[in-house]
Amino acid sequence: MADDARKTSGFWRRLKWIGLGLLVFGLVAGAYGYYRLMYEHREPLISDPDERFKYGSIGAEHDAGIPYWIFYVLPRMFPEKLPGPNGLASFGVAWEQGRELPIGFTKKKIGFDRVANNCASCHTSSYRTKVDENPSFVVPGANHRLDLQAFFRFLVDAAKDPRFNADNLMREIATVTELDWFDRLAYRFLIIPITKKRLLEREAQFAWIYHEPFPQWGRGRDDAMNLTKYFMIGAPMDNSFGPTDMPAIWNLKKYDAPGTTMNWAGDSHDAYSVIIDSALGLLGAAPKDSDEFLGHVIWLQDYLGQKPPPKYPFAIDAALADAGKAVFDANCASCHASDKTGRRMALAAVATDGERIATWTKANAIAANKAVQEFGIERKGLVEAPLEGYNPPFLDGIWLRAPYLHHGAVPTLRDLLTPPAERPKVFWRGYDLYDPVNVGFVSDGAEAQRVGSKFDVSERASGNQGHEFGTTLPPGEKDALLEYLKTL
Ligand code: HEC
Ligand code: HEC
Repeated sequence: MADDARKTSGFWRRLKWIGLGLLVFGLVAGAYGYYRLMYEHREPLISDPDERFKYGSIGAEHDAGIPYWIFYVLPRMFPEKLPGPNGLASFGVAWEQGRELPIGFTKKKIGFDRVANNCASCHTSSYRTKVDENPSFVVPGANHRLDLQAFFRFLVDAAKDPRFNADNLMREIATVTELDWFDRLAYRFLIIPITKKRLLEREAQFAWIYHEPFPQWGRGRDDAMNLTKYFMIGAPMDNSFGPTDMPAIWNLKKYDAPGTTMNWAGDSHDAYSVIIDSALGLLGAAPKDSDEFLGHVIWLQDYLGQKPPPKYPFAIDAALADAGKAVFDANCASCHASDKTGRRMALAAVATDGERIATWTKANAIAANKAVQEFGIERKGLVEAPLEGYNPPFLDGIWLRAPYLHHGAVPTLRDLLTPPAERPKVFWRGYDLYDPVNVGFVSDGAEAQRVGSKFDVSERASGNQGHEFGTTLPPGEKDALLEYLKTL
């Protein structure tokens, strides 16, 4: 009897130890799993401001991040879904030599390496002064080469393809790297299936991107207000369509002048608000840490506020430019260097394509402001009033902002000074060779057609009518005006 009792209590004791052992193992395994799947590795902020703008994380890896190795192999696995040869580069991303990722792509370890985007993916310009030259990248300019729509569609189309499965992806990943045992298991059973599911979930929100009657946005354009409408406030799809050029966002302190509003149609009150809304768009969810998030926003506001526009890279005839200033003062300054600049103006004053105006309403602004407020973020926000037309833009660094007008329907400044009926009806966007004669990018010819996307002014939201200012000036005055515009 006593022996039995001893045996039993010995048994229970052993069981207790085993149980405790398992518990400890469970905790350690759980902690290890957390570390390998979720733990955010914090790195010091990049100290060089331009480098930080180009490659620094703004926190988008949490909810919008794509696991690094999936991101790496997708272009290899689905080349037929890319807009051209050369993998990721075919989207027109700005890729500096020797860098692991293009400008505007960030890499961060949250458990495992993830890739996401920052502002520089859309706000970096590039140009070449001659054919046999590497591109010069200019931050924070306009990425006139980026095929954003193709990039959005690529990720969803890849996820929809039955070849997007763990076996195929693991095989492809094994050709480029050797994952350790944990990552092999995690990628196969968690990361790949979850990524597929999350990319597929995007498809429903992308209905308008796939909507057949709408033409392609083309390189350098983004239907930004519709993106905000469908993603931030979950509005039902309507029939509006208004892709615009990515704008250059240097020298933002010019918007400190009272009464100015921002975005092409004056939708938003101030830089702080636009930066918050743009960053939330990139995060795709509420920020994990509001203080950290607003820290990035304030840094960006300061950086973008100070950043000067780039200098024209070719020679300028100073006497001709001087003469051009008089032409500008007489014909252009009343809107572009006055208390009208950057302020709301009725569409009838310039009569350019109105489709962009119809993409956004007062009700949308109210809903978006509410959504941001619910994140606990205070900002002046979007203008809660119907849109009227396009703001006359400030013209700083205008030489590098081609093609011109809010939707980029006019390839060069010389074309803009030409009556609408004589402006190019079909041209190619997204080639970065500069044309100093016409002031803009080369937009026709074999190379422009090879790398660019075709722009046809008869398509929806692409009309090149309106803004006829300066079109009847004598040729000598146009030349002088063009020379002056290069100096801005
Ligand atoms: C996906 C491309 C894309 C990304 C990423 C992006 N932007 Fe933009 N941004 C745009 C487009 C397009 C517009 C013009 C929208 C319109 O008016 O139709 C714009 C407008 C702006 C403007 C207004 C410029 C002016 O003169 O009125 C600012 C400022 C700006 N963005 C800052 C940022 C910042 C800061 C970030 C990162 C937090 C960012 N953007 C990320 C595409 C982008
Ligand atoms: C009555 C006001 C007004 C006058 C005068 C005017 N503009 Fe404009 N300008 C605008 C508005 C508004 C826009 C935006 C239109 C759009 O994007 O659809 C614009 C757009 C532009 C753009 C395109 C900017 C960009 O980022 O693509 C350029 C360049 C320009 N104007 C140059 C000129 C020149 C040069 C003159 C004089 C010959 C001139 N403008 C006269 C109102 C004016």
